[in-house]
Amino acid sequence: MLPVILLVVLSAILVMLIIMTYYLNTVKANYDEADEAGEDGAEKKKEGMSASQTFVYSSIVLVSVSMVIVVYVMLRGTIWEGHLMEWMNIIVRLMHITFGIAWIGASFYFVFLENALNRTKDVREELAGNLWAIHGGGFYYLEKYKIAPQKIPKHLHWFKYEAYFTWLSGFCLLFVVYYFNASAMLIDKNVLDISPLAGIGIGVGSFIVAWLIYDGLCRSPLIKKGIWFTIIGFMIAVGFAYFYSRVFNSRAAYIHFGAMLGSIMAANVFSIIIPAQKAMVKAARQGLPLNPQLGKNAGLRSLHNNYFTLPVLFVMISNHFPSTFGNEYSWLVLAVITLGVAGVKHYLNLKEKGQLSVWVMPVSILILLGAAFMTAPEKPGACKSNVSFTEVNNIIQKRCLSCHSSRPTDDVYTAPPNGITYETPEEIVKLKEKIMQRVVITKTMPQNNKTNITQKERDLIRCWIEQGANLK
Ligand code: HEC
Repeated sequence: MLPVILLVVLSAILVMLIIMTYYLNTVKANYDEADEAGEDGAEKKKEGMSASQTFVYSSIVLVSVSMVIVVYVMLRGTIWEGHLMEWMNIIVRLMHITFGIAWIGASFYFVFLENALNRTKDVREELAGNLWAIHGGGFYYLEKYKIAPQKIPKHLHWFKYEAYFTWLSGFCLLFVVYYFNASAMLIDKNVLDISPLAGIGIGVGSFIVAWLIYDGLCRSPLIKKGIWFTIIGFMIAVGFAYFYSRVFNSRAAYIHFGAMLGSIMAANVFSIIIPAQKAMVKAARQGLPLNPQLGKNAGLRSLHNNYFTLPVLFVMISNHFPSTFGNEYSWLVLAVITLGVAGVKHYLNLKEKGQLSVWVMPVSILILLGAAFMTAPEKPGACKSNVSFTEVNNIIQKRCLSCHSSRPTDDVYTAPPNGITYETPEEIVKLKEKIMQRVVITKTMPQNNKTNITQKERDLIRCWIEQGANLK
């Protein structure tokens, strides 16, 4: 009864808050007009109104999250719990990629702009450069100032919420997918036997440690030595990849590597780039001399972020590729791919600057081919003739059915994962390719090898499939 009452109250608050956003919007529009007309005190009121808007929007988020928590408590232990988690996953994931695209899109665009600026022909003294572009049926002309314009315009667009919301939604996704079900999704007892709470603590703590190390490195004299900074930074990142692979299950290890880089990117925006820009705007408004170092620092962090994008994108899709995270040296595969795709980004950046490099792209491709080579399946051993279905079926009954049946006996899965069951011979035959992929090639099934399948059993399954997956 209590949850239902809570839900009703929260819904009422939510409706009120939404109505308030409309009200605040109209009032703010009036103040905007007054400010435009130069009325006294209008600017202060306008700012006050923006603050109220932020407050109302944050309240909406808080109330919505509370509602989800109440619903979760109501559905916990029922057959709808899994369904709720699935929809949370859908919604949060969709938000995450949407914000992420906006953020990475802006990153690509501005780094492109910076690289492609015309800095020589017909450039006014106060400008760093300009660029003509055509897009969506319109001509655009952009100018970049060397430091700042004489007068800071009233309407200055800031790019920051893309970054903040990408990080926030990513963090929520980490909870929905990995932390809520940490004993199955985060921890692998064969890797390290720790409690779910310890695992979550290590995961979240590692992001903070990574930021402190990276930020320290950026403030050290090393930052002036571009190449050494890159090499040492990369080695440290590889260290993290290795560390994660020794603590978490292989999928979670990959995701944590991406989340670690993503957190550094968001922290760069939050604690370096935006504060530097605020200081620049403030100084320009007050007519004080600008410290060009501020802009340079911000620009450098922004460039680092740009190089992190492709590795992070790879991690985001890596979950679909068990041959990568399922490899015995999964951390090394991740390191090699990170290097390769960052190299590709470097090539693109050089190209935009008009400095076509002969070797960056080929080397990057070679590195990526190296990863493909490393993850190739081993040459299989010889098979005895005619492995019978009975043999294979016995293995599957023993090693898979605890999860993959309509009524799993596993302590974590109460419904068959991905809806996959192996209760009839037909089901097994139908899924033979996937079984080959997950059980034989990448060895990512049984999950965390919870049911202790042996290599011999994996070989038998392979031989049976290779011999045509007969039901005899
Ligand atoms: C401890 C529980 C557990 C056991 C035991 C287990 N699985 Fe899974 N399986 C899962 C989970 C969870 C997923 C979904 C997540 C994933 O794809 O990793 C899954 C997914 C799969 C998939 C991918 C399905 C898809 O839609 O792509 C295949 C194939 C598979 N399992 C085969 C097997 C086989 C064969 C065995 C026995 C040798 C087995 N599993 C044992 C938990 C288990």
